[in-house]
Amino acid sequence: MSFSSTTTSSSMSFACFLVVLIVFSNDRLVHASGCYTSIISFGDSLADTGNLKGLATIADELYPCLLPPYGESFANQPTGRCSNGRLIIDFLAESLGLPLIPSFVHKGPDNIAAFEQGVNYAVAGATALSASFLEAKWTEKSVNNASLQTQLSWFQKSLPSICGNTSACRDYIGRSLFLIGEIGGNDYNYPLLVGKPIEEAESYVPLVIDTIFSTINEVIDMGAQTLVVPGNFPIGCSSSYLTTRAFLNEERDPSTGCLIQLNEFAEYHNQMLQSRLNEIRELHPNVIIMYGDYFNAAMQFYRSPPEFGFTNGVLKACCGGGGPYNYNTEARCGYEPATACDEPDTYANWDGVHLTEAAYKVIFKGLFEGTFTKPEFRSVCHASESQVNIGSSSAM
Ligand SMILES: *[C@@H]1O[C@H](CO)[C@@H](O)[C@H](O)[C@H]1NC(C)=O
Ligand SMILES: *[C@@H]1O[C@H](CO)[C@@H](O)[C@H](O)[C@H]1NC(C)=O
Repeated sequence: MSFSSTTTSSSMSFACFLVVLIVFSNDRLVHASGCYTSIISFGDSLADTGNLKGLATIADELYPCLLPPYGESFANQPTGRCSNGRLIIDFLAESLGLPLIPSFVHKGPDNIAAFEQGVNYAVAGATALSASFLEAKWTEKSVNNASLQTQLSWFQKSLPSICGNTSACRDYIGRSLFLIGEIGGNDYNYPLLVGKPIEEAESYVPLVIDTIFSTINEVIDMGAQTLVVPGNFPIGCSSSYLTTRAFLNEERDPSTGCLIQLNEFAEYHNQMLQSRLNEIRELHPNVIIMYGDYFNAAMQFYRSPPEFGFTNGVLKACCGGGGPYNYNTEARCGYEPATACDEPDTYANWDGVHLTEAAYKVIFKGLFEGTFTKPEFRSVCHASESQVNIGSSSAM
């Protein structure tokens, strides 16, 4: 746009000064107040959009999430997502105007992915603690070796190919939104799902939190400016626990039907996580670290299912092989003779362990459009607004 010939030189320089100010302040908004051009994600099956699928060899093709009917509501085929459709990270990417975040591990000819707008390192089954550490404690083997530390090392090694030199990468990292977790749930799932006492899982909590703490510090040292760190779900409401721990006769909350002690355990993890996040905030006052309250975002629908459209309930799985909660370890979703329900959007639980797309959407809205991140996500990011302003000011 050009100025009319009647514009005096002084008003023109004032106009230019204004433009510079606008560009400068928007630039500050982008970098300092938490708006982003990409998402970088670490975690487990709650965020995996294809890494386990990429890692699986022919011999491992039996991971349930890689089989139909997973993905039936989204891609008409399994994508590696452990749900019937999209996950929280997918809704987040869509809301920020980014493409769905590609998984880091690719198989086959299309292994050159575009990561400029984000990379997802989350792997279904991943633990916070290293597999070798946990395997020494457990009798059973963990699902994979892609612990949080492994995912972080993938990130560090892949950076040059994503963003080039050190200063360009620092810039890329600074403009990225980091999603660190949920992670740690599997460290507890392995003992708890086989009926071990809660005290055993409790003994891992400080170690799990330490691992998350050091991972966050490492990405901040690499230049991360904005992070969302989700806590654990109310696992006492999970069909898998309601089924596999039924023999223990643990106390249930009469208003929700959820296992009280397991939910208290999840809150214990979440409390410890939040107090460590406070420590990091003190160490790095210029970095925005949001706690993602998955627990209370999910409790919304466990407390009042019909309000969220879950007319078939929130405790019974949509896809499964029978039993009071339609969760059967002998016939899990993905294997014969398990079947999926007709209307997954009317269920919160997809396969006993993971939630439906509809439930993940409620949690996404609670966090990223509502009040379930601390500080509130919408108070630190006005991405679309600032992009519009940048566009109009640079056009001048
Ligand atoms: C994890 O890695 C260790 C050491 O490389 C290996 O012995 C073990 O079999 C691996 N576990 C899985 C589940 O891949
Ligand atoms: C780093 O990469 C950026 C973008 O490609 C380039 O503009 C810059 O000159 C490079 N800096 C160094 C020190 O090589």
